[in-house]
Amino acid sequence: MSTRTMVALLAFVVACDREAANGQRSGERVYHELCASCHGAAGVPPDGARALGAKDLTAPELHERLTDGALRRQIRDGSRDGRMPAFGGVLDATKLDALVLHVRSLSRKEIR
Ligand code: HEC
Repeated sequence: MSTRTMVALLAFVVACDREAANGQRSGERVYHELCASCHGAAGVPPDGARALGAKDLTAPELHERLTDGALRRQIRDGSRDGRMPAFGGVLDATKLDALVLHVRSLSRKEIR
């Protein structure tokens, strides 16, 4: 492989990496704005919210059970019984993706 190809490849990899990191950072911001009050800053709900039924987002069991699609749906539509509000009205697709990424990063165990 020529040096030039290697440099181009490297630049590409770095750019992708940065993009993923940006996505996760904006996901984190949105999470703190919209979700942390019930699910806790690190994904563990404070006692009051837990009593309300808010789930522990660090639980590997939850991440194994929910596909990305199901996670997205939960955020967009809220819970069926209304205890968790729907956020579809305030989040565009990019923010939803970033949020899903961030929620995944809260798991106590790496999934995938
Ligand atoms: C007003 C409190 C409240 C807020 C704010 C809230 N949630 Fe929830 N969340 C809940 C409750 C209560 C449940 C349990 C009900 C359920 O499982 O449908 C829940 C469940 C969940 C689940 C698990 C669903 C399942 O099938 O186990 C996920 C994932 C989740 N919330 C993510 C989020 C994210 C991401 C945000 C921010 C966009 C958020 N929640 C904001 C209260 C809240």
